[in-house]
Amino acid sequence: MSGSASRAAWPTDGLSFGGDYNPEQWPREVWLEDVALMREARVNLVTLGVFSWGLLEVDDGVFEWEWLDTIIDLLHANGIAVDLATPTASPPQWLLEQHPEILVVDEDGNRRPPGSRQGWCASSPAFAAHADRIVDAIARRYGDHPAVAMWHVGNELGGNNARCYCDASAAAFQTWLALKYDSIQALNDAWGTAVWGQTYRRFEQVQPPRGSGLVKNPSLVLDFDLFSSEALHRYFLRERDVLVRAGVGQPVTTNLMVNARAGVVDHAAWAPSLDIVANDHYTRQGDPRRAQDIAFSGDRVRGLAGRERPWLLMEHAAGAVSWETVNLAKQPGELIRHSLGHIARGSDGALFFQWRASAAGPEQFHSAMLPHAGTASATWRDIVVLGQHLHDLRPVSGTLLEAARVAILFDDKAGWAYEAGPKPTGAITYGDAARTWHDAFWQRNIRVDVVPPSAQLDTYDLVIVPGLYAVSDEDAERIAAVARRGGTVVVTALSGIVDPINRVRLGGYPGAFRELLGVHVDEFFPLLPGDSVALSAGGHGTLWAERVTVTAAEVHSRYAAGPLEGLPAVTCASDTAWYVSTELDEAALGRLVDQLCAARGLVPPAASPAGVEIVRRRSPDREFLFVLNHTGAPVWVDVEGIDLLIQTAVTPSTPLAAGGVRVVAREG
Ligand code: GAL
Repeated sequence: MSGSASRAAWPTDGLSFGGDYNPEQWPREVWLEDVALMREARVNLVTLGVFSWGLLEVDDGVFEWEWLDTIIDLLHANGIAVDLATPTASPPQWLLEQHPEILVVDEDGNRRPPGSRQGWCASSPAFAAHADRIVDAIARRYGDHPAVAMWHVGNELGGNNARCYCDASAAAFQTWLALKYDSIQALNDAWGTAVWGQTYRRFEQVQPPRGSGLVKNPSLVLDFDLFSSEALHRYFLRERDVLVRAGVGQPVTTNLMVNARAGVVDHAAWAPSLDIVANDHYTRQGDPRRAQDIAFSGDRVRGLAGRERPWLLMEHAAGAVSWETVNLAKQPGELIRHSLGHIARGSDGALFFQWRASAAGPEQFHSAMLPHAGTASATWRDIVVLGQHLHDLRPVSGTLLEAARVAILFDDKAGWAYEAGPKPTGAITYGDAARTWHDAFWQRNIRVDVVPPSAQLDTYDLVIVPGLYAVSDEDAERIAAVARRGGTVVVTALSGIVDPINRVRLGGYPGAFRELLGVHVDEFFPLLPGDSVALSAGGHGTLWAERVTVTAAEVHSRYAAGPLEGLPAVTCASDTAWYVSTELDEAALGRLVDQLCAARGLVPPAASPAGVEIVRRRSPDREFLFVLNHTGAPVWVDVEGIDLLIQTAVTPSTPLAAGGVRVVAREG
């Protein structure tokens, strides 16, 4: 059933609304209040049992199900569906006593003590064997329960255990390398181990990249990242297969953490094995571009899920998180606007961490749908309104976003390659360029799919390749094919520099794209943070520059000062293949994006003032325009139809309140 969920398998009728529910933290009289309030807020789905292994298997092979039986029945009696977690995120104390080797070993060889969560090694045989037993038991007990609508494997796999440096991991890594390289000589050649005298004679000599602060071979680091993601993915598949063998028929998922950074796992490799692609997303309240962050994440999750299926926002926060230095509250209106922002980008629901704020434990100051203050709170009032909104948006469920004509390529593996080993600048992080380009389209309400380089690129008119540091020959060829068929490709600096083993592509940068772009770069000239260089076509370049020679391209803009004065900065080959050799400032990027959009006839769904986001979802006969006002003032938007949130007709002269949202349904 991998990746096969049809709409019929969606866990709720209509959009899903609810969150992580941890009844085990509360006495039973609270459970009755919980379900009554869930009904009041129209909650229809809760994630249950995420951290409950030690409360279900209280000792080795000794199970206590009564509390879970009771709460599942209670939820079912109240019409609330359950996304049942396999409780393997936190191994129980008895298991850690018996098998302390399960615990993750950090880069410096220290075994992490018990006491937190997700602290287990994906290559530990003892962990896997015990996990099999509890997963099988819970699947057999609840697989047929009518309340159970979905299965949630573990929690944020890789959240605290993405890399484990223990001996079991080292042995598994050596086996993985032997399979990948076949001979140790091939590994030595690929990794360039002659540098610093690292040559290996046997695979058993290869150790994980241990030692924080040590400078390591970038190919070793990248291969260990790839191995670690695969080890966790294998673990996910193992749990999924135990569930399926035990006969569960519901969709199986796990909650990914997709944002604009290289992930803890290779999301593109994982996504096809999830029946419903689920994402956890937390804004940084200090980030002035929170709405854009939500849009980027949503566009990327959709790019991973595939354009033909909705995805699910599995967790976000109703207010402040508890893991930043200063945990800022959400601004008035953000709770509702952020939730609807995810739905606008293709989520068929909005779930939160968590239902009721904990009184005790490490997350006691994390916000929740039901805060410590209870129902006498602004958060609760917003939650009730949001529940009503999602109920009114039932017609939106199952609809898809209209096809985007622009793709931005994003790849966890390219990010890992870039982050492994010293680089010409430490001032650029993988993902920065993708975010900047995405923001430029966001400001213009031009829809973008953020997709892995392995995605099908045939349907896009414009493909942006921002800082795609590592790329395979095959992917580089598919990108070049976009330009050959007349599509536009924009490659930005630090793309195509290394191959998938993290070896520099020789003969001039940007190695994999030199021919496509008709340029040749012989030296990098990174800029100090805060410095900039003027460009002849207007605006400035920041952070990065390089000495570009054109071999078969037109020069669009030149460096206008400094050591590169007069040399090309932005070029275009055959009217289709652009190269941007610096980080453009907002003015320069805006001009270029306007030019690209004009050339391709890319227009927004409706005209709107700055700071107003408009996204269209559609069914065969209806369209739903999500209009989100991220500004602090009322706005007027050129849209007409029925606003489903207020069930009233709106016209271009109906003001949309500061911070407000409108979802306008129209025929056609
Ligand atoms: C997530 C996690 C939840 C909760 C939440 C708080 O990463 O899955 O269990 O801890 O963060 O923001």
